[in-house]
Amino acid sequence: MAKKDLKISASILAADLSNLETEIKKLDSAGVDMVHIDVMDGVFVDNISYGNNIVSAIRAHTKSCFDTHLMVIDPTKLIPLFAKAGSDIITIHLESKCDIGKCIELIHQNKMLAGLAINPDTPAEKVFPYMEKADMILVMTVEPGYGGQGFDYKTLPKIEQICKYADKNRLNTDIQVDGGINATTAALVKTAGANILVAGTYLFDSENMKKALADLK
Ligand code: DX5
Ligand code: ZN
Repeated sequence: MAKKDLKISASILAADLSNLETEIKKLDSAGVDMVHIDVMDGVFVDNISYGNNIVSAIRAHTKSCFDTHLMVIDPTKLIPLFAKAGSDIITIHLESKCDIGKCIELIHQNKMLAGLAINPDTPAEKVFPYMEKADMILVMTVEPGYGGQGFDYKTLPKIEQICKYADKNRLNTDIQVDGGINATTAALVKTAGANILVAGTYLFDSENMKKALADLK
């Protein structure tokens, strides 16, 4: 498979939530490729973030691709709501309680791209049966639930394994990583084969977002 261009998806979990319009516009002028929206239900993870109402609210301020990461126990009923709100990609967790194959189909029926995420302790082989159907595999490089955590190095061989499987089976799957991404860990995940990097703290804490973005790339 031809090598894909590297994309950066900015996680707004690290943004100033009281000034989201300004923050979204900052991402656009820095030139980020996607906006990563972390949805947490307080059950699948021990934290609550925001939902489809925030997706609709920020949709008005950018044409950027909305990459929605659902850390919820059952995404099934939420898929049409996020489609209506303006999501372009929906990623569900393999560890959630839903019929994964059916949810991927539902995401496609709602005219969005489908991602499948795995936590750091979930083995790579678990996603193989879904890789023909899913457009993207998200390898969590921290435990989901919070921004600003340190990168989990044990996930690197797993990224490699998933990329190799995609190559061997001639699949065009995007491989995304999420958590603890900075200029140093970005280089490692790129070498391992990831082509979409989620970054929250690194981008929003930087003095110059355009430069931080260039450092990641
Ligand atoms: C963690 C979230 C991540 C997080 C990344 O549950 O899925 O998207 O916001 O944040 P940083 O880049 O700060 O690790
Ligand atoms: Zn995320």
